[in-house]
Amino acid sequence: MEDRFDEAKAAAARAAVERYVRPGMRLALGTGTTAAHAVRALRARYPTEPFDCVASSVATERLAASLGLPVRPLRGDDRFDLLIDGADEVAPALELTKGGGGALLREKLLARLSARFVVIVDTSKLVRALGERAPIPLEVVPFARPVVERELAAERFAPRLRTTADGRAYRTDNGNELLDLRPERPVERPAELDRRLHGTVGVVETGIFVGLAERAVVGAADGSVREVVRTAGPDPPRGA
Ligand code: A5P
Repeated sequence: MEDRFDEAKAAAARAAVERYVRPGMRLALGTGTTAAHAVRALRARYPTEPFDCVASSVATERLAASLGLPVRPLRGDDRFDLLIDGADEVAPALELTKGGGGALLREKLLARLSARFVVIVDTSKLVRALGERAPIPLEVVPFARPVVERELAAERFAPRLRTTADGRAYRTDNGNELLDLRPERPVERPAELDRRLHGTVGVVETGIFVGLAERAVVGAADGSVREVVRTAGPDPPRGA
């Protein structure tokens, strides 16, 4: 299917690579169509540079490998100079909804381990509050999922199990399932909702990212790019 935002995504990805990647960096690689543009832009700009890379999904790992960019497994003491990754929604204080591509848990871990997290999006992803244009994904342990689903339905989150094209439950790279939440109203206090959802037994991670992204590089259809920089908001502890 044609993506009418593809050129805008590519412009954001190229700009982020040009502006923020330097040779020798330890890089965390995101997931999704915009992050894939960043991996390709990275290889185009630095065709032979041996970056030290960890990827947030098997899909990104494969893409990087196909471009001759080696990706290694995560180590206990890993810290990264930079994570470049996409998002499904970006609110003004750089709160994000992520996980449309199913990689939210690994993405959040890599964001916490990265000194800088630059999010790359097209203009359609900018929202006033999270939940406005995209559902909020929750990674859930399969055994607990029916219970979590019922509980969240009772709390009016309208959870929907993510499925594959053939109707089976989608499984993340971690073997878990995903519930996509549609809150009744856009989320005014995302950090609070994140904490609340984490209090539900069986929830492994949420797609709400607060205080993690340093800046957003936003691409437009005409190829122009602008940046939104985070100025306020709570900082979660760095390092897992
Ligand atoms: C992957 O799990 C997501 O967090 C993506 O970063 C997000 O869904 C954006 O994806 P696209 O770049 O494909 O729009």
